[in-house]
Amino acid sequence: MSESRMNQWLSRFYGHFTETIRRPFLVWPASTPLLFIFFAFLLGLFLVTRLLDSTIILTTTTTITVTNHIPELNCTTLNTTITCPTNNYPNSNREDLPRPSPAACPEYFRWIHEDLRPWAHTGITREMVDSGRATSDFRLVIVDGKAYFETYRKAFQTRDVFTHWGILQLLRKYPGQVPDLDLMFECDDRPAIASNYYNGSHVPVSLPIFRYCSVDDLAYIVFPDWSFWGWPEINIHPWNTLLEDLKEGNKRTRWMEREPHAYWKGNPNFIQPRQDVMKCNVTEHQDWNLRVYALDWQKETQEGYQNSDMASQCNHRFKIYIEGIGWSVSEKYILACDSLTLLVKPRYHDFFSRGLVPMHHYWPIKQDDKCKSLKFAVDWGNRNKQKAQAMGKAGSEFILRDLKMDYVYDYMLHLLTEYAKLLTFKPTIPENVTAMCSEKMGCPADGLVKKFMMESMVKGPADTSPCTIPPPFAASSLYGILSRKENSTKEVELWEKKYWDSQNH
Ligand SMILES: *[C@@H]1O[C@H](CO)[C@@H](O)[C@H](O)[C@H]1NC(C)=O
Ligand SMILES: *[C@@H]1O[C@H](CO)[C@@H](O)[C@H](O)[C@H]1NC(C)=O
Ligand SMILES: *[C@@H]1O[C@H](CO)[C@@H](O)[C@H](O)[C@H]1NC(C)=O
Ligand SMILES: *[C@@H]1O[C@H](CO)[C@@H](O)[C@H](O)[C@H]1NC(C)=O
Ligand SMILES: *[C@@H]1O[C@H](CO)[C@@H](O)[C@H](O)[C@H]1NC(C)=O
Ligand SMILES: *[C@@H]1O[C@H](CO)[C@@H](O)[C@H](O)[C@H]1NC(C)=O
Repeated sequence: MSESRMNQWLSRFYGHFTETIRRPFLVWPASTPLLFIFFAFLLGLFLVTRLLDSTIILTTTTTITVTNHIPELNCTTLNTTITCPTNNYPNSNREDLPRPSPAACPEYFRWIHEDLRPWAHTGITREMVDSGRATSDFRLVIVDGKAYFETYRKAFQTRDVFTHWGILQLLRKYPGQVPDLDLMFECDDRPAIASNYYNGSHVPVSLPIFRYCSVDDLAYIVFPDWSFWGWPEINIHPWNTLLEDLKEGNKRTRWMEREPHAYWKGNPNFIQPRQDVMKCNVTEHQDWNLRVYALDWQKETQEGYQNSDMASQCNHRFKIYIEGIGWSVSEKYILACDSLTLLVKPRYHDFFSRGLVPMHHYWPIKQDDKCKSLKFAVDWGNRNKQKAQAMGKAGSEFILRDLKMDYVYDYMLHLLTEYAKLLTFKPTIPENVTAMCSEKMGCPADGLVKKFMMESMVKGPADTSPCTIPPPFAASSLYGILSRKENSTKEVELWEKKYWDSQNH
């Protein structure tokens, strides 16, 4: 893409977006399956305490002051074209700084090695990368610390925009440390195809494609999703600010004083497992210990989310996580609540969820017979309050500590570094693209997009080294972890069976 086309694209895009968020009532195209994504992810929205307190929710009066952040970006234009500074990153000569010896990264970083294992012996050739183009939304090339994006399809909402932004922030945080690379990225919820093989080599090899989630038997490389930098369409703030709010929100109601039920709120439409759970709601005739709420996105939007009392979202001892059409961004918000997460067996994983341990961070729920499984979990938790509370706490500590923004960047850095080591070619700047930088994205942005970009912007290079990546799992330890997970899940199922057998006699 030429520079002027890129600028055109940017201004068209941001222009359009600004239009959208200024409209008081959003009209979503009802027939598109993408609509489900709104609903699927709204759950996350309702967990966000910030949304309660702040009022900037897709209203006509979105006046955002970002002036106190502005000096970070040089938005001076030469001939109306914003240029990337030659020295992209402030104060980047900081090798002389004393650096504390780096701590080890959280355990889930080990999965970086697993995600890249399919290419450990073959390496990644240019042809393999190119072959991923058919299903990818964009290509990222990094050469000499500068990022180049080539967009093949416009991704849904601002997913790609905030993913690009996140990568640019990584370059600001670790200038000179992100290696040259060339990669393909898919922004959809579900992997585009089940078998993405490159047939050019002697033995078929999986195509190396980055995406936000994958399933266990597919070779995709998982990368942090856009919501870490913000999701303006539903006013989800960047993770660094949200995390602080969630910590505060958790202090509002002590676990013991919370409602002794399991809570879920979201949109169940067209998602069978969610519809199943709807059927377990309390009625005159049944009480499965569940309080579930269906969300009418359009109504909520029209009413400016008045009915969505975020504070009440951490008011239950138990919270349910159920996937949407792919994994759901809401997982981190649910786990962060200090409540015990009842996690319906997921099909998808993102970059951190493989680090969660059943019966330590969450309570596993079967996919079938969910009402019984959930009722048993809640009964157990209310009879074993200390244990349930500790498990809830472990889950939120995992999120608040191991998933803080610094680790998200470290994960990206290590993943990209390990990926780049596998490339068998020297990445070059593609024809017709120009360097992208925070100035080019941030300066012309507007509205919530701008606000979230400024809120999530890395202010300067890190003054500590990234954490050290743990070595790959030994085959036996990976097997051990997986079988312990399997074991404890099976154990819960046994307890559950006993419980229901005894109820029936
Ligand atoms: C900002 O950018 C303009 C145009 O590229 C340049 O002339 C100016 O020196 C820059 N200002 C600072 C403070 O870097
Ligand atoms: C600005 O644009 C004018 C006309 O398009 C051109 O002659 C001039 O060289 C440009 N200046 C810079 C600094 O790019
Ligand atoms: C590789 O071959 C399989 C089977 O012939 C085919 O389904 C698949 O689309 C091919 N993949 C690519 C990237 O061409
Ligand atoms: C579930 O039950 C609660 C309490 O009766 C009710 O307020 C709520 O609307 C019900 N949810 C659904 C989806 O029917
Ligand atoms: C780059 O742009 C030129 C001129 O517009 C065009 O002929 C060429 O095909 C483009 N190259 C690629 C790889 O798109
Ligand atoms: C799983 O459980 C079985 C029997 O309950 C036990 O023999 C085995 O050692 C357990 N495995 C692990 C990894 O804990």
